[in-house]
Amino acid sequence: MSERIIVADIEEMSQRGAEHVVQIIERAVKERGKCMISLAGGNTPRSLYERLASEEFATRIPWESTFWFFGDERHVPPDHEDSNYNMASESLLSKVPIPHENVSRVLAERPDPPAIAAHYEMTIMKVFFLAPGELPVFDLMLLGLGPDGHTASLFPHSDALKINTRMAAANKIPESEDWRITLTFPVINESKNILFLVAGDDKAEAVRQVLEGQSNPEEYPAQFVRQKRGFQLWLIEQPAAALLTK
Ligand code: 6PG
Repeated sequence: MSERIIVADIEEMSQRGAEHVVQIIERAVKERGKCMISLAGGNTPRSLYERLASEEFATRIPWESTFWFFGDERHVPPDHEDSNYNMASESLLSKVPIPHENVSRVLAERPDPPAIAAHYEMTIMKVFFLAPGELPVFDLMLLGLGPDGHTASLFPHSDALKINTRMAAANKIPESEDWRITLTFPVINESKNILFLVAGDDKAEAVRQVLEGQSNPEEYPAQFVRQKRGFQLWLIEQPAAALLTK
């Protein structure tokens, strides 16, 4: 099941998003004693993360029962301005009482991207207590959308789009020598809840293509998000929703 909410601005996106996230955490912890969350990178989620760290929401979250991961990471050290970990740490993780061991960082300061991805997979297996070949089921997967229709670091026509036997992969940004580490679509599609956060008029065509266009997932990889179960919410800032017809 999915729902789209068009929001006026980042302020409304963050408020609605934070409420949605806290309700998922409260329900997961009540049902299973813990909540497994994968954070989106880029700029859009920053405001939501700051909202989660605010008094209004932080006091509702049982931080010791939450476990935090990253949907993708840039191949930079954790204190680099481009690091998704750095953004999440500045806006949320360093401001709330999350036990250090509850945050599973991608060790993106290491030299070899495929080895970083393999280490991240071992971390996921350990924290989820997975048997070999078993996939993690995140309670909440936060995702963004690029102007080219990518999500996480699953770029158009990139090698990682076809990977269905790994949980994480190293993936090159098209036409660049820059590497990313990303969760793969099999993991994303196991999630119980997916929350897309999309802002910016430069995303309008990608939003239209992903939500209303012809099936063309190699060109618009977010179309590969085909959740096997649960609920998917799109919070779309009005300029990014401008080309939607329904
Ligand atoms: C990243 C993200 C990426 C991001 C989109 C949107 O590492 O950049 O994981 O998928 O969500 O590119 O980025 P903005 O929120 O900055 O527009």
